[in-house]
Amino acid sequence: MCHRKKSGGKNGGLGDVASRRRKAVRVKAKNTRSESSRQWLQRHLNDPYVAAAQAEGYRSRAAFKLLQLDEKFRFLKPGMKVVDLGAAPGGWSQVAAKIVLNKESGKIVALDLLPMQPVDGVDFIQMDFTSDEAPVEIKALLDGPPDIILSDMAPNTTGHASTDHIRIMALAEMAAQFAIDVLAPNGAFVCKFFQGGAERDILEMLRAHFEKVRHAKPEASRSESSETYLVAQGFKK
Ligand SMILES: C[S@@+](CC[C@H](N)C(=O)[O-])C[C@H]1O[C@@H](n2cnc3c(N)ncnc32)[C@H](O)[C@@H]1O
Repeated sequence: MCHRKKSGGKNGGLGDVASRRRKAVRVKAKNTRSESSRQWLQRHLNDPYVAAAQAEGYRSRAAFKLLQLDEKFRFLKPGMKVVDLGAAPGGWSQVAAKIVLNKESGKIVALDLLPMQPVDGVDFIQMDFTSDEAPVEIKALLDGPPDIILSDMAPNTTGHASTDHIRIMALAEMAAQFAIDVLAPNGAFVCKFFQGGAERDILEMLRAHFEKVRHAKPEASRSESSETYLVAQGFKK
């Protein structure tokens, strides 16, 4: 049974989220709050995806990015084996669990540096993906090659743009290499990606191993962010 829903019901809420109107909340400046944290709080309180995530039981607004990407590319299917890298607090795992898990089949292994509250049916590993043990632990839980690797990993930012870009892209490249090592034939790789200079190598690597490699910026990804996603489909084993 496929649990994918298209419209803004209990488990869905895709493209129409941004147009849901709510009264804007203004956060007043207080001595104890820096201007940047005041702006963050105001943006958070007025973000329709934050409200929709709360209303629909998702742990993060990021859940809508995966829902929108999957609505466009249809890479999640019932019964698949899924790896979710950078999974905490669990929005993507929740979305994947609704679509792929059923009584007979489907498997999700999620990993993050941070702890994560359990998601029904999802095996979670708290570990640094860059450690030597991470691929071993993931494979041990998978019981066969995965059909899709999802990576929403993002390291903490330093505030230094080019350093942040290099660190993010290094994680994306490691995730891509892992996907190429372990994916099942015709598998897919979906990865957070930041444009800004260091992307050529990873794109070349993916184009050599997948039938199609496309960029996508889901509506739930903030327009002011250089975040985008890479969707590679049709893994050539
Ligand atoms: C944007 S959040 C992911 C949100 C998640 N997809 C969701 O839907 O709730 C990025 C995550 O990447 C994780 N992360 C960053 N570097 C990592 C690493 N080296 N290994 C594992 N996880 C990492 C962070 O701890 C953070 O939880």
